[in-house]
Amino acid sequence: MSKFPKDFLWGGATAANQLEGAYNEGGKGLSTADMVKFVPRSVSKGANTETVSLEEVQNILDGKRDDEYYPKRWGVDFYHRYKEDIKLFAEMGFNVFRMSLNWGRIYPNGDDEEPNEEGLKFYDDVFDELAKYNIEPLVTLSHYETPLNLSIKYNGWENRKLIKFFENYATTVFKRYKDKVKYWMPFNEINMILHLAYTGGGIFIEKSENELQTTFQALHHQLVASASVTKIARSINPDFQIGSMLGMSLYYPKTNHPDDVLAAQYANRVNYYFLDILSKGEYPNYAWAYFKKKGIELVIEKDDLKLLKENTVDYNSFSYYYSLCAGSIHDEQSLVSFIPEHDFDEFHPKKAKNENLKVTDWGFQIDPIGFRIAINEVWDRYKKPIIISENGLGTTDILEEDKTIHDDYRIDYLREHIREMRVCIEEGVDIIGYTSWGPIDIVSAGTTERSKRYGYIYVDADDYGNGTFDRYKKDSFYWYKKVIASNGEDLD
Ligand code: BG6
Repeated sequence: MSKFPKDFLWGGATAANQLEGAYNEGGKGLSTADMVKFVPRSVSKGANTETVSLEEVQNILDGKRDDEYYPKRWGVDFYHRYKEDIKLFAEMGFNVFRMSLNWGRIYPNGDDEEPNEEGLKFYDDVFDELAKYNIEPLVTLSHYETPLNLSIKYNGWENRKLIKFFENYATTVFKRYKDKVKYWMPFNEINMILHLAYTGGGIFIEKSENELQTTFQALHHQLVASASVTKIARSINPDFQIGSMLGMSLYYPKTNHPDDVLAAQYANRVNYYFLDILSKGEYPNYAWAYFKKKGIELVIEKDDLKLLKENTVDYNSFSYYYSLCAGSIHDEQSLVSFIPEHDFDEFHPKKAKNENLKVTDWGFQIDPIGFRIAINEVWDRYKKPIIISENGLGTTDILEEDKTIHDDYRIDYLREHIREMRVCIEEGVDIIGYTSWGPIDIVSAGTTERSKRYGYIYVDADDYGNGTFDRYKKDSFYWYKKVIASNGEDLD
């Protein structure tokens, strides 16, 4: 009873800073992600570890912190092993592979006059290898890494100059890969800058006097940059497809108390804030009310709003891992470590536990029906094609003596989510692709662990980089291969 369209895009999604390694090869400059140290889980308790201060960075650059390990510098060595990895993706039947370009491979300092040819050549080789197997690249321009120089010199996206640097970078790669790449996304999880300013925007938040002002201004710069490169993209190749990418946080009311229902509605508006701007081209009315209430004074230049209006995306995409509850009356603890506690308000709701759902070891509430709800919401509001750009289960796996990995828990998670996505398609939602997160084990964005694994392909490396880095197929590898071969018919 499969209702997936016949040219449905099936594949997996990654990010350069979590995958490639080779942080100082091929002329690449340092990036913000290269500065994030590993913190053992016994210390971090699974909490996000991506907050880095300018002082820490300076100490690292001065060689004062050589005893620390920075996993994103090494990733899982895709830089040297991409042929082997792409062959495995092809064996699973992928017809799409979501990857990001590392900005610092192309413009090592971000503000250089000329691009780095060696970096451009590396991605040429990767795209050619994908083309050998008819795998379509889906390319993110900025996925949680900014050239470090731009952070130190300009405090990242707080500074409007970043728009120009990003336009230069985008123009270079759009021209270079105009016949090799069709699907693009300017920013990964563009909402994350509001929660993780360093990760999402290369911002040292301690330099800011008013965190809300800084992050909303930086976000405005990213939104304008996104619209601007969309315009540039279309002038270079009108067939390009440019998408939004939102980190979906779906909220239910904690109880049916109207206060909780209202809190959930406001919390969900935070998702739509980004899509309203990128997909409809307008700041929503409640944004202005919020800015006023909080004393946020956005600096908006003359043509910004026009640019946003005239350059909306072709498709919407989002990541979905879990759902949350918003409660206004219960003083609950934050459930998901990925988003730190903040001053509570409409944009930063109190998060409450959902007693009906199981939780992963990393505190993610497993909710396939929530996935369906999220897809329906995005479709109903924007009526643009949807790509599910991330979804999956991050957990520990056991490599058996005979090099097998029996990850039935991952198969269960994915099966239930794909099943819900299939219902949406049957009900008429235009979903064109699904790229599950980390088809090969990579470094975690939030906790810098390698032991938090999402892959169909196991990588023999631990949190400190010990291991052979050899690749092994998990049970889920064979399962996903079957799913793709049957175009979503056979989920058993
Ligand atoms: C998304 C990011 O938020 O979640 C990815 O776009 C990230 O970069 C993924 O890896 C899963 O999060 P984590 O912290 O488990 O790696």
